[in-house]
Amino acid sequence: RSYEYIEVSEPRPGVGQVTLNRPKALNALCSPLIAELNKALCDFQASPTVAAVVLTGSERAFAAGADIKEMAPLTFSEAYTTSFIESWSDLTTSLKKPLIAAVSGHALGGGCELALMADVLYCTATANFGQPEIKLGTIPGAGGSQRLTRAVGKSKAMELILTGKSFSGEEAERWGVAARVFPSYEALMEGAFKTAEIIAGYSKVAVQAAKEVVNKSQDLPLRDGVEYERRVFHALFGSQDQKIGMKAFAEKKKPEWSHQ
Ligand code: HXC
Repeated sequence: RSYEYIEVSEPRPGVGQVTLNRPKALNALCSPLIAELNKALCDFQASPTVAAVVLTGSERAFAAGADIKEMAPLTFSEAYTTSFIESWSDLTTSLKKPLIAAVSGHALGGGCELALMADVLYCTATANFGQPEIKLGTIPGAGGSQRLTRAVGKSKAMELILTGKSFSGEEAERWGVAARVFPSYEALMEGAFKTAEIIAGYSKVAVQAAKEVVNKSQDLPLRDGVEYERRVFHALFGSQDQKIGMKAFAEKKKPEWSHQ
């Protein structure tokens, strides 16, 4: 399949990659780009070979935001009746396989929000994150006010969203927005691929369940979340891979997953 605004590949066994590729606009996230990204992630979800996905941009820009030129003339009724931006939420619901965002350069506005939607966020030390929407007379619209606040706490999120000030990859890691920070683009990509390969080496059933229960923690109160986790944990005693994994441990062997 050929795309206009993204590139799709399988760089390592079990690993899918989507590269945002709209260099003229620093990967600004126009609607057709989001549609292509949704399609690519749906294909990876259906793929029997891909077990984890890496999402990246270029060294210069992960994504500089939603497309300001596309948004500028929109009216309220157009935005409302077309549910503008709602299709972005497909990114988080259609992909049950782990998604690692590898962020270098600008990740601003919708670009920052897109990175925050990933299951694991890696970045370079010099990555440039921010929610600058306030400077355009608007606010984050793809979950930034919610996900950034959960990541860094209310006071810091308020400061970032109300001032529009950027923060570095170094800060993103220190504040818990990023899981890891890397000294270069090359190291970032290698780190993302390595993690994706590790995940791809485990039982697909267990990996999907692990992602599902961690994500529940973002939506549920603690008691409900712990109960949900326990139900899924119990359910996994019905999988072959739980038997395979624990038997292999007892026999000091490497498990051969059935993915059942
Ligand atoms: C459309 C964009 C764009 C954007 C950059 N470009 N960001 N086009 N939408 N978000 C275009 C520029 O117009 C320019 O096109 C080309 O990309 C290169 O950008 P420059 O500004 O020349 O590059 P530079 O001087 O290096 O500055 C980089 C930058 C700056 C700091 C990232 O481009 C910038 O401030 N961009 C806007 C960032 C922003 O405000 N993002 C939030 C958008 S609102 P030409 O044709 O002139 O060469 C948003 C709302 C989210 O995301 C809500 C729902 C998702």
